[in-house]
Amino acid sequence: MSNPSILILPGDGIGPEVMAQVTRIIDWYGNKRELAFDVSTDLVGGAAYDAHGVPLHDDTMARAMEVDAVLLGAVGGPKYDDLDFSVKPERGLLRLRKEMDLFSNLRPAQCFDALADFSSLKKDIVAGLDIMIVRELTSGVYFGEPRGIFNEGNERVGINTQRYTESEIERVARSAFDLAMARGKKLCSMEKANVMESGVLWREVVTRVHADYPEVELSHMYADNGAMQLVRAPKQFDVIVTDNLFGDILSDVAAMLTGSLGMLPSASLGAPMDNGRPRAMYEPVHGSAPDITGQSKANPIACILSFAMALRYSFDQGAEADRLEAAIETVLADGLRTADLLGDDGATPVSTSGMGDAILAALDASL
Ligand code: IPM
Ligand code: MG
Repeated sequence: MSNPSILILPGDGIGPEVMAQVTRIIDWYGNKRELAFDVSTDLVGGAAYDAHGVPLHDDTMARAMEVDAVLLGAVGGPKYDDLDFSVKPERGLLRLRKEMDLFSNLRPAQCFDALADFSSLKKDIVAGLDIMIVRELTSGVYFGEPRGIFNEGNERVGINTQRYTESEIERVARSAFDLAMARGKKLCSMEKANVMESGVLWREVVTRVHADYPEVELSHMYADNGAMQLVRAPKQFDVIVTDNLFGDILSDVAAMLTGSLGMLPSASLGAPMDNGRPRAMYEPVHGSAPDITGQSKANPIACILSFAMALRYSFDQGAEADRLEAAIETVLADGLRTADLLGDDGATPVSTSGMGDAILAALDASL
């Protein structure tokens, strides 16, 4: 049988730097765990624009549809700010999400014990935090039509459309209920049913799907209240399911609770492929961080944890995912920190590759 295949798209800014550490981890699994992958690499975002004039080449898109999983670094940067909307780096990412139909975006927000002091909230509010935001990723206002900037009388009007079909809500709700079943059996659905018809329908469909998951405790919250509750008492949540735009915002709020955006992975999952694996793309939640690009300061942990999610959700290697996550916890407990996590607690500063070295050493020690 051939090895499972991975397409790596490092992208822009710190993307290539953090992805270089992931490549070392992937090699480690091939060498030490007889878990070899067929890895290919290609361009996305500004890097693809520079080479091809588009943020995602059709050949790359086709390749993404063939592989077992895509790992993406980050896209965008100030150099591309003035580009036409249709070729902005972000469009490459959005095309991948849309054409792979990755409707369920898993964004865990977990507070590592060693880092609880980094949260802007009091330690006891975030210590031990472990929540999962499930964000709908292929519909809603990100993709709804009509959209555009149009002339209307003697001025222009900018239009985007929030649009959700029942089946779109149902499939993401199911994936959130499934996750809740495997975790703390609590699901909170967030929308704005008080002002938006799409929110009314969202609430109705989620409630209907709940009938198939009687063991899960379901609650509903308006998304603005949800944002407030996330900051006030985040540990009340287990799994949160929400739409594309609210999920974008709420997951950034949740991310910051944990102390560092540099720590958070994500998985974007679609329907099962012929081989039974879900179509999938894994990426860190952080962006391309142009301000620190090329300085060996970037924290590779979010990207490495994204590979751990790939082990778990694409490759059925939950125990190896646990091993990788434990190695990262060990390294943090030992006081090693990239620049984003340096406080005054006597931690040992390490570079991007220094963090990679330490995680590899911890993996070796785990054998
Ligand atoms: C994210 C990002 C993207 C989004 C951007 C880069 C298009 O903010 O993944 O959260 O808005 O979805
Ligand atoms: Mg975002």
